[in-house]
Amino acid sequence: MTEEFATTCVHAGQEPDAGTGAVVPPIHLATTYAQESPGHNRGYEYSRTDNPTRHTLETVLGALEGGEHALSFASGLAAETTLLLALKPGDHVVTVDDLYGGTHRLFDRVLADHGITTTAVDARNPEEVARAWTPETVMCWIESPTNPLLKIMDIAKIADIVHAKGGLCVVDNTFATPVLQQPLALGADVVVHSATKYLGGHSDVVGGALITNDAKLAAKLRFLQNAVGAVPSPFDCWLLMRGIKTLALRVERQNASAAIIAAWLEHAPGVARVLYPGLPGHEGHEIVAALWKGRGGAMISFELVPDANCDVFFKTLRIITCAESLGAVESLIELPAAMTHGAMSQEQREALGITDHLVRLSVGIEEPEDLIDDLARALDAALHSTSQSG
Ligand SMILES: Cc1ncc(COP(=O)(O)O)c(C=O)c1O
Repeated sequence: MTEEFATTCVHAGQEPDAGTGAVVPPIHLATTYAQESPGHNRGYEYSRTDNPTRHTLETVLGALEGGEHALSFASGLAAETTLLLALKPGDHVVTVDDLYGGTHRLFDRVLADHGITTTAVDARNPEEVARAWTPETVMCWIESPTNPLLKIMDIAKIADIVHAKGGLCVVDNTFATPVLQQPLALGADVVVHSATKYLGGHSDVVGGALITNDAKLAAKLRFLQNAVGAVPSPFDCWLLMRGIKTLALRVERQNASAAIIAAWLEHAPGVARVLYPGLPGHEGHEIVAALWKGRGGAMISFELVPDANCDVFFKTLRIITCAESLGAVESLIELPAAMTHGAMSQEQREALGITDHLVRLSVGIEEPEDLIDDLARALDAALHSTSQSG
């Protein structure tokens, strides 16, 4: 699987250019295309509708997720919005309780005004999805792992339940990446990506994607992609393709490093608990051990002990950068309560277990020993600072 997948990352849809032999697809900047006579074009007419660089990216995206139809967008949220515009007022969606904050905001503060309602469940128990289903429910939207608690769902079981109810199963595969799991093969109907993260992988391009094997839904999404117009620029498409060439390599390295770091964090002074699906103690470990072939992902959440000084911890880090986002070559760290999940109320966060000391680490491709040294120094300073000030 890995070798085949790595080859797909480099070659899918990217034959040397027929005209010049260039081994890298050109960036087509033209916004419009000459027509021999009105309505007779060579496959392209206007760049919002379709563009050769975007077309190549979409071939790559489809190949990564094993989907026949792939569409790219200007951001992950643009992809999500376009998909959700296929719903109509009165429709109901079952979601997961620690959904990415931006997706939660889209449902809660944008789509709710357009008559779309949601019920959030803890889908670690797939029966919760069935329980929340109403006659108006048309879709179940899950992430696995979730953010930042790294809860693991049984995608295949949830897809079965959703199909028995006649609904669509949507999986946001941003955190896991198609290197670890391909939700369409597990029964999902649509895969969503924030391509800004692992697919791009270099913190230099914002993008999104939808991938499906449902031809009828794909036709509707293609219509919406053009009608709504939240498309990526040709340069963004090119950057994403360039990033994807090393996706398999990067993710394998990040997974291997994360396993080493998570095992170290479990016994590190100043750390109260570690959430990492690759650790045998994680409650989703059994699912990922089989599905991800022994890998545990490259995201780690951990909680500092109550008397550690969080501020000092972040300020002492030298290699790991405090920033939102994830999935890039450089390691990024953040405090969800103050950053990615700051828009949630304290009560909502507490109910989920997102405490003020919970830290989320996206492991990059640096030498794992350097990252451990950086964390050790920062943990030591966080503990030392408390004892001094206390
Ligand atoms: C899981 C997940 N889905 C979707 C998004 C939204 O993607 P974007 O920021 O590219 O709009 C993000 C962004 O952080 C995310 O983490």
